[in-house]
Amino acid sequence: MRPPGAQTLRVLPTAEAVAEAVAERLVEALARNPELVLALPTGRTPLLLYRHLVALHREGRVSFSRATAFQLDELLGLAPDHPARFAAYLTRHLFQHVDLAQERIQRLDGAAADPEAECARYEDALAAAGGLDVALLGIGDNGHVAFNEPGPTLQARAHVAVLARQTREANAGLFAGEPSHVPTHALTLGMAALLQAREVHLVATGASKADILRAALRGPLTPQVPASFLQLHPRLSVWLDTAALGQNEAALS
Ligand code: GLP
Repeated sequence: MRPPGAQTLRVLPTAEAVAEAVAERLVEALARNPELVLALPTGRTPLLLYRHLVALHREGRVSFSRATAFQLDELLGLAPDHPARFAAYLTRHLFQHVDLAQERIQRLDGAAADPEAECARYEDALAAAGGLDVALLGIGDNGHVAFNEPGPTLQARAHVAVLARQTREANAGLFAGEPSHVPTHALTLGMAALLQAREVHLVATGASKADILRAALRGPLTPQVPASFLQLHPRLSVWLDTAALGQNEAALS
């Protein structure tokens, strides 16, 4: 069954090749529109992509000087100097190496005294920036995008999310392998911001993502697999390595 939206599937041999191709795609997008508004993910998947973007920036092939970056999500309740904060990750792997202007780096404050107010502030900042031009997304093993977790409903706006047990286990590496040390809640952009992005790029690598990708890209739209709603997006590009494609070639082609 064809998905309802227009979807481009790009399968490359390795995670390295995926990172290179997505980086080139972003370089083109920034060349066309230097004022691009981007949403950026954390996790293992984008590490290679950020490495490529930093290298391309050092080669003088890309500038972020007029771009705006929104972090997709953030763990709630960590001290402002905690190294596991997603803001710290983005600084470490991308922001400190490129020429993004500090005032155009939008961070969710996971230490905010009033997390709901912080989400409202973030929505306002996103609206003031004119929404997202490009949402760069990974996918969680349980089908989450950003921290829009599976459940009976999804939320359109930025919100405080309760993290699934599986998600806390997946993030345990940031907390000496101890899932119980992973915060129980997070802040995240909602589904509307992602679906209203002018382009969505979903990046997944590794065999562990094959099953959830099939459910997300060809299964029914269901809040139990939040990424399935990306099928509705009119400009969704899915970037996979052959491991993430797995046995799904027939289903996804
Ligand atoms: C994280 C983030 C997501 C990310 C996903 C997959 O916890 N909230 O934005 O895309 O989980 O992470 P990974 O790339 O490590 O598999």
